[in-house]
Amino acid sequence: MANISFYSVDDHAAQALTLLREKLTGHSIWQWPDIGCAADELDYAICWQPPKDFFDRADNLKSILSMAAGVDHLLQHPGLPQGIPLIRLCDAGMGHKIAEYVHYGVLRAHRNFDQYQRYQQARNWCPQPDIDAADYRVGVMGFGVIGKVVANHLHNAGYQVSAWKRSPPDDTHPYAVFSGDHSEFLASLEVLVCVLPLTAQTKNIVDKNLLAQLPAQAHFINVGRGSQVVEEDLLQALDNGQLQSALLDVCSQEPLPQDHRFWTHPGVSITPHVAGPTQLHLSVTQIAQSIKAMEAGQPAQGLRGAVNISAGY
Ligand code: GLV
Repeated sequence: MANISFYSVDDHAAQALTLLREKLTGHSIWQWPDIGCAADELDYAICWQPPKDFFDRADNLKSILSMAAGVDHLLQHPGLPQGIPLIRLCDAGMGHKIAEYVHYGVLRAHRNFDQYQRYQQARNWCPQPDIDAADYRVGVMGFGVIGKVVANHLHNAGYQVSAWKRSPPDDTHPYAVFSGDHSEFLASLEVLVCVLPLTAQTKNIVDKNLLAQLPAQAHFINVGRGSQVVEEDLLQALDNGQLQSALLDVCSQEPLPQDHRFWTHPGVSITPHVAGPTQLHLSVTQIAQSIKAMEAGQPAQGLRGAVNISAGY
């Protein structure tokens, strides 16, 4: 029988706990801080944005399971015990949700909906040139589990998709996948979509130099992490016409501070980190499967979702 602590800032934490207990019968699962054993008797920790003291004295954890696809909330945690395997969610229903969100943003740009809204305010009847989806270039930056779902979704919707990933792709796709230097990838895009994980390499990656490599009047959609964007550079690119719009589901500080310019900038649309809400049943099922596999003796490192800690995802 394993001792498991659980913590989530999510509104559905109570429901997640009930589901975890259903799927992991025979194991003890406690909602932190009400732990029914000594911290050093805990075997697993399941969490999303745990507080500073969540890992205190939990020195014998076999694994830490992220209740999210991203593990930046763990890798940046000051109390994260070193040398413990981390496991993240792999899609768990989020890919489809994020693809829907991105598709909405791409359609909004492609079919000029923001433009028509402005025309409406000016009582201006002004049809814009029609562009086939096949001629509309959308680039997906970040080509992991979720980036692939997003790119495939857009490709199936008829868009001229390309993708960029850090290391060369090891599989083939019906669209171009770039790696390494991103200038060729960026040079012809109408819409740039960021689906990257937050790592030391991707922090501030969307800065004025990157944005300047896009064609003028491009659109930007961020469903990755806010800290990948230099927010001042993004605002400047919107102000000088390098970018036409930014649809941001994530910001470097969440909730977005009341006085932030993103709230009122005419080129920015904000949503409160809702592009890929955790799908409870699928997430809990995946976490329960991982714990059962480890309890059956499988090494954490070989499991789906095992995190490469030095790569940061
Ligand atoms: C949400 O942002 C996640 O990482 O799952």
